[in-house]
Amino acid sequence: MIVFVVSIILSILTGIYLFIKKKYSFFEENGIPYIKPSFPLGNMKGIGSKYHMSEIIRKVYEECKDKGKIVGFYNLIQAAYLVTDLEIVKVVAVKDFNNFVNRGVFNNEEYEPLSAHLFSIEDDRWRFIRNKISPVFTSGKLKFMYPTISDKAKNFVSAVDRKSKNGAPVAVKDLANRFTVDIISSVAFGMEANTLNDEHEELINIFREVFGEDGPSMFFFFFVMAFPKLAKTLRLRQFSKRLSDFFINVVGRNIKYREDNNDKRNDFLNMLIQLKNKGSIDGEFSTETKKLTLNEVLAQCFLFFLAGSDTSSTTISFALTQLAFNIDMQEKLRAEILEKTKDNNGVISYETLHEMTYLNQVVSETLRMYTPGFTLLRQSSEDFEVPDTNVTIKKGSSVWIPTLAFHFDERFWVNPNKFDPERFTQEEIAKRPAQCYFPFGEGPRNCIGMRFGLVNVKFGVAMIIKNFKVTPNSKMEYPIKLNPKSPGMDPITGFWLNLRKFKVIF
Ligand code: HEM
Repeated sequence: MIVFVVSIILSILTGIYLFIKKKYSFFEENGIPYIKPSFPLGNMKGIGSKYHMSEIIRKVYEECKDKGKIVGFYNLIQAAYLVTDLEIVKVVAVKDFNNFVNRGVFNNEEYEPLSAHLFSIEDDRWRFIRNKISPVFTSGKLKFMYPTISDKAKNFVSAVDRKSKNGAPVAVKDLANRFTVDIISSVAFGMEANTLNDEHEELINIFREVFGEDGPSMFFFFFVMAFPKLAKTLRLRQFSKRLSDFFINVVGRNIKYREDNNDKRNDFLNMLIQLKNKGSIDGEFSTETKKLTLNEVLAQCFLFFLAGSDTSSTTISFALTQLAFNIDMQEKLRAEILEKTKDNNGVISYETLHEMTYLNQVVSETLRMYTPGFTLLRQSSEDFEVPDTNVTIKKGSSVWIPTLAFHFDERFWVNPNKFDPERFTQEEIAKRPAQCYFPFGEGPRNCIGMRFGLVNVKFGVAMIIKNFKVTPNSKMEYPIKLNPKSPGMDPITGFWLNLRKFKVIF
């Protein structure tokens, strides 16, 4: 009996060994450059312990970029492709977009309706929803939301002021999170969350559950990327049921209230309600009258929260931190803000915000070095021969475009580890290929919320720099090291700054 059991176990282990060996020989057999993987993490060794996810991807890119325009790597045991050439970025994200419409990210609509949002849905369903909600993000519509952003920015300044009393160091990311959560809750959920005044702490807990160290781990992310079908069969959830229920109840209730009371406002939720009830937005011409379902509306609202809050607050926090360590840049920015607002009682209007060229340079450089969307994902819907290479991407394979790695590539950037907003003057931009910088993604599937995100980030940074002198607290180290455990981008030390208030002129 023992011999029988042992031989069964040995056969199973041999089967697994041969299966993995076969998986790991894919690029070798197909003559595609790659780095030798090791079981079980493939090329992801050290993820979450020694390296941040973005650093691992950069490492693979740096080791392979001279070997081919597109190379192979192993996400756990799954073969995936990594683009190392700007022409191929264009091919995948723009020219042959029709073959790379999908990201291939996990969603399980049946079991978790909120997971079927624009970021994860596919093919015609994606085309339909993207088409429907694009008008929501035009600059004309965003202007209507500016008073809300301005209002929350004042609360941001007051909260920083309170927390920095008597010279106490401020955990700036926590307040920046509250700033972006308050904006998005207002315009997308119809909820005055006021987390900057310590109300609705449950929203901040949700934020931590999604983006914090205790949120979905990196291993979970890679697992569902590598085995989406298995993840579906196992009924894995991206987010807890508690979180989904909270969200569906709050936003569902607000939608009903607005409908019952014919309560119309100038915000995202209002436009989404119109798409649900009549299939188009007031004042927008549309030949397609199909309506959104309630679940589709809820999933998009949830995505605005997922895609818009941490990305923007991370950018604000890194920008303020770099300005704290680079006082000359901070003074230059403050001078610009004061100059541009002097004829308007110090008020930063929508128009003046867009005239602040140095602010734009600072934010652009922050997004170069700390790109929240550090890798773009695309999935090949058919076998695809990559032009000017001998690589054929197999149907269903994942293609990773490592934005952050391009942002640090010495082929395009001098001294890339240095924070230097001067890279973004018109003259400097003209000296490098336009495509080597793409913090909001590339092609028809790029970030739909770019304009809105940029306004939030710029307003947040401008208001703090206008009202406070910002210096680093001794808890922070420079150069900044990323926390390997964080799914987003955060320094290992957290963001600790000292802020000293000037005379406040809103
Ligand atoms: C600094 C702020 C932001 C950054 C850096 C950022 C970055 C990105 C990136 C890199 C992508 C993937 C693009 C691609 O695959 O080519 C993306 C997608 C997306 N972002 Fe943003 N984002 C920001 C803010 C926002 C905001 C404020 C919203 C909405 C309120 C938003 C909504 C979306 C959506 C819906 C997608 C999916 C688009 C699609 O699949 O069609 N983002 N974002």
